[in-house]
Amino acid sequence: MAKLIWFFKRVSYRTLAPLFPETISKWRIQEVAKNYNMYTEENEEYYAKLYFHIIKTKFQQVFGNKKLKILDAGCGQGRLSIPLAIMGHTVEGIDFSPDAIKLAKKYAAEKNLNNIYFDIKDIDEPFNDDMSERYDCILCTEVIYMVKDYNKVLSELYRMLKTNGLMFIAFREKYFYLLYYIKNKRFKDAKFILSNSKTMSGLNVHTHKEILEILFHFRLKDIEFHGIGICSGIEGDPLSSIVEPKNLTSDEQKILFEIETSLSKEYSKAGRYILTSAVK
Ligand SMILES: C[S@@+](CC[C@H](N)C(=O)[O-])C[C@H]1O[C@@H](n2cnc3c(N)ncnc32)[C@H](O)[C@@H]1O
Repeated sequence: MAKLIWFFKRVSYRTLAPLFPETISKWRIQEVAKNYNMYTEENEEYYAKLYFHIIKTKFQQVFGNKKLKILDAGCGQGRLSIPLAIMGHTVEGIDFSPDAIKLAKKYAAEKNLNNIYFDIKDIDEPFNDDMSERYDCILCTEVIYMVKDYNKVLSELYRMLKTNGLMFIAFREKYFYLLYYIKNKRFKDAKFILSNSKTMSGLNVHTHKEILEILFHFRLKDIEFHGIGICSGIEGDPLSSIVEPKNLTSDEQKILFEIETSLSKEYSKAGRYILTSAVK
């Protein structure tokens, strides 16, 4: 039965994708969010710790010990929102996947948190007018490469950030996809992104320089780049053939963590994602 459903989905995807590319792409992303739990997957837990290390350091630099109002845009199952609420910040997490939001609410309830709110929302759609300058910090990790119009989404996020507020965006580097396609001998796809900032299946990919231009366009200041996972990966990633964090002993994982955090700025282009931080 499961195989039949899989086959049906695959055929519908192939037939309908060229006719309704945006709808089908969203449906596909939501299917992944339904079946892949980033809160519990072991490698993802490791990468959440990498994000956290950078986020906490930056919070200290910019805000000291102040408690913040944070938006986590495309929060998934709450892998980053929940630890931020545990730190005492007020967090609003939004995602267009009802399944991800349902799980995020469940995990937050298990921790008895009353300073976190999750809601279903498509960030490709505009936000209410009265939300300008609402947040001290906005987080949008591993989402921008999936959205329809990243410029529109980023303008909305920028609008909702307070002046002197802090923005974290994790972009997908073009280099990651080049390695991925070449590793899988998908040379047509690799060639396509040489002159495009979208993959053939419509995902947004950027070079380091393009990311910098995007952030400059929004007049963001104090821009920093960090590579997330500069010498490791999750199954399917190009760097997973070096190592997957979940396959290491806890001592080995600690050393990998130390290496990947110490050199994340130096090798920012090499990561699974580039995490940018910037101030409005
Ligand atoms: C790779 S996950 C990252 C989740 C979370 N930011 C994290 O780092 O753990 C991408 C998430 O973005 C969500 N997403 C993608 N496009 C979206 C959109 N247009 N509006 C809201 N959520 C979106 C997906 O449903 C998925 O949960």
